[in-house]
Amino acid sequence: MVGQWGKEDDEKVVIRCYNDLRDIIQMEWVEKSCEIGNDQTFLFTDTLGDPLCRIRNTPLSTMLVADVGTKLVGCIQGSVKPVKFHDKSVNVGYVLGLRVVPPYRRCGIASILVRKLEEWFVSHNVDYAYMATQKDNDASLGLFVGTLGYTVFRNPAILVNPVNPGRNLKLPSDIVIRKLKVEEAASWYRTHVAPTTDFFPDDIDQILRNKLSMGTWVAYYNNNDKINSWAILSVWNSSKVFKLRIGKAPLSYLLLTKVCNLVGRFLMFLGLTALPDLFSTFGFYFLYGVHAEGPLCGNLVRALCDHVNNMAASDDGGACKVLVVEVDGESNGGDLMRCVPHWKMLSCDDDTWCIKPLKCEEKMSDLGEFNDMFWKSKPGTLFVDPRDV
Ligand SMILES: CC(C)(COP(=O)(O)OP(=O)(O)OC[C@H]1O[C@@H](n2cnc3c(N)ncnc32)[C@H](O)[C@@H]1OP(=O)(O)O)[C@@H](O)C(=O)NCCC(=O)NCCS
Repeated sequence: MVGQWGKEDDEKVVIRCYNDLRDIIQMEWVEKSCEIGNDQTFLFTDTLGDPLCRIRNTPLSTMLVADVGTKLVGCIQGSVKPVKFHDKSVNVGYVLGLRVVPPYRRCGIASILVRKLEEWFVSHNVDYAYMATQKDNDASLGLFVGTLGYTVFRNPAILVNPVNPGRNLKLPSDIVIRKLKVEEAASWYRTHVAPTTDFFPDDIDQILRNKLSMGTWVAYYNNNDKINSWAILSVWNSSKVFKLRIGKAPLSYLLLTKVCNLVGRFLMFLGLTALPDLFSTFGFYFLYGVHAEGPLCGNLVRALCDHVNNMAASDDGGACKVLVVEVDGESNGGDLMRCVPHWKMLSCDDDTWCIKPLKCEEKMSDLGEFNDMFWKSKPGTLFVDPRDV
């Protein structure tokens, strides 16, 4: 029966490409049985009936599945794109959506799936494979870092801010916010952001032109000649790709939600934001390409975030309940962390990015050599591609 995985030890694992018509029902069960979280919190992802939703927007992607007999017991997705990395143009392959159903874990199935995906990456000229997980995901880190030779290279923070529904935040009168045309935004990013950023996408125009990209805004002061500060960000409507729901949360969060619901009207009256109901499915806007320069740029970032809040608040049907930004964590400066408005209890600083060279592996006698090269060159700030979210 679909969704029930009795183990039959003598059957072989077969890795093949995902087939929508044949696999969609079993895929739903795989996703359901592999919800990611810890003992306290579970985050459910609703792919809106499309298992490929997270890779559809990348130029080149694949999804592989693992069969044991007639049962689909695991899956993995990968996408390829050209980026600037440590001042070089390279192709990177992003590993995502790795799942193995519980009865088939610790049999080496995930290792086979990742290795097959790496082979596919190599056949598509990929220089580095990378992936993101949480600091406390022992299985994932054990697999990628412990077994497969990946190295942890970044610990970005995911900042989450609830949208203030039905009420516009007042923006400072000395700040101008201007929407850029796609060509202007691409040129601005190429000139000011790419040189100081790692993982800057070479196909930035494609991202900005994507139907999920809602636009790019810059903020500066009315009298900018004197202050010479500016900030920029772009907005990606992730609500249209998938939705999230918290399945289980710590007692403190549940209590706080109840209290906030009770006093919600009062909070709004005071101009404060009530805690959103994250136990029903919710969508989010992802703020990407966030970059700021100049002595007073912190207020400009805040103003841009408030501007996006106002857009989200008037979004049709209130689908977008939170704004999400991923920025370099404290270990890498963390400057933006201090000016992007966020709620600490909804945010986390445990995102962990791991990387592995694929092409230069043969040339380098061991991974130590790669690590030396990697850590000696100073990394820039991180550009998080919204298509990876
Ligand atoms: C992570 C996951 C895909 C691993 O699948 P798997 O098929 O059990 O992994 P493998 O059998 O190939 O494990 C290979 C090695 O990884 C490490 N590993 C796997 N699971 C581990 C765990 N729970 N704790 C610590 N190390 C673990 C071990 O070194 C293991 O080798 P060993 O079994 O010889 O000790 C699976 O646990 C899963 O689906 N988890 C939920 C979804 C998830 O977290 N996905 C990863 C998102 S990036």
